Amino acid sequence: MSFTQYKPVATRLQRSELAVPGSNPSMIDKAAASAADFVFLDLEDAVAPNDKEPARRNVIQALNDIDWKGKGKTVSIRINGLDTHYMYRDVVDIVEQAGSRLDTILVPKVGTPHDLTMVEALVTQIEEARRLPNRIGIEALIETALGMANVEEIARQTHTRRLEALHFGVADFAASRRSRTVVIGGLNPDYPGDQWHAAIDRMVTACRAFGLRAIDGPFGDFNDPDGYVAAARRAAVLGCEGKWAIHPSQIAMANDVFSPPPAEVERAKRILVALEQAAAEGRGAAQLDGRMIDAASARMAQNVVTVADAIAA
Ligand code: GLV
Ligand code: MG
Repeated sequence: MSFTQYKPVATRLQRSELAVPGSNPSMIDKAAASAADFVFLDLEDAVAPNDKEPARRNVIQALNDIDWKGKGKTVSIRINGLDTHYMYRDVVDIVEQAGSRLDTILVPKVGTPHDLTMVEALVTQIEEARRLPNRIGIEALIETALGMANVEEIARQTHTRRLEALHFGVADFAASRRSRTVVIGGLNPDYPGDQWHAAIDRMVTACRAFGLRAIDGPFGDFNDPDGYVAAARRAAVLGCEGKWAIHPSQIAMANDVFSPPPAEVERAKRILVALEQAAAEGRGAAQLDGRMIDAASARMAQNVVTVADAIAA
């Protein structure tokens, strides 16, 4: 019914997500020492076909050897797509050999909900067979025209509560749609506005309807910090919780954009106090700094406070 509310499947701090090729062990070590909230070890597009198997072995070793949790990192792997013969071994080898160290699996080029059913079935069997103490989350990259056409159905995978986030993969999305791009995630001056707006907006709504986090993907020009910050701000305004960093220099910018500024947190707390007082006096609405606030303001304020608390934790 319309009052159904899907609670967040899993809350994780994901302001910055550093993408690291699994084929490069020294970059993996640096990623673990970085300030990123999240790191994904890539087996997919940043790894050449000849490196796929060594990369898988590196990733297993890095998961087992590095104390990711101790370094405050959530660690993920991006497996190869279901349309490749690498994908099943990515899941089987890594989850069997390092599953207890893995937080989430990022599935690229998800086009239909069935793609996730397949990954989930494999993960569930391995978790049971190996009696893993943790439950590995699943995240899906929406980066094809088909995935975007089905994004609500994909987000609706709510029965197992394992899918926890959708990511917008602007590079493959542009390729799939044949959009005219200038730089990955940047704006084409031929378009009067933000050509990615409709896609990110649709994905965010699908996420929030079903309790998922919404994450914005890459910005390709790491020599353009202003362009990165502008893209991150656009995504944050729409409701994304974080953005990829394809270069370490982008981590601090993402952490900054996706952290509520102290003045905003302060105001959110004052809104909550003012509304509590109003409620104690039998009123639903109140005034703060000359503006009307009500129960919806309290929900928005609570979002800000929740994020600030997670950052402080
Ligand atoms: C990410 O994988 C993208 O295609 O943008
Ligand atoms: Mg991609």
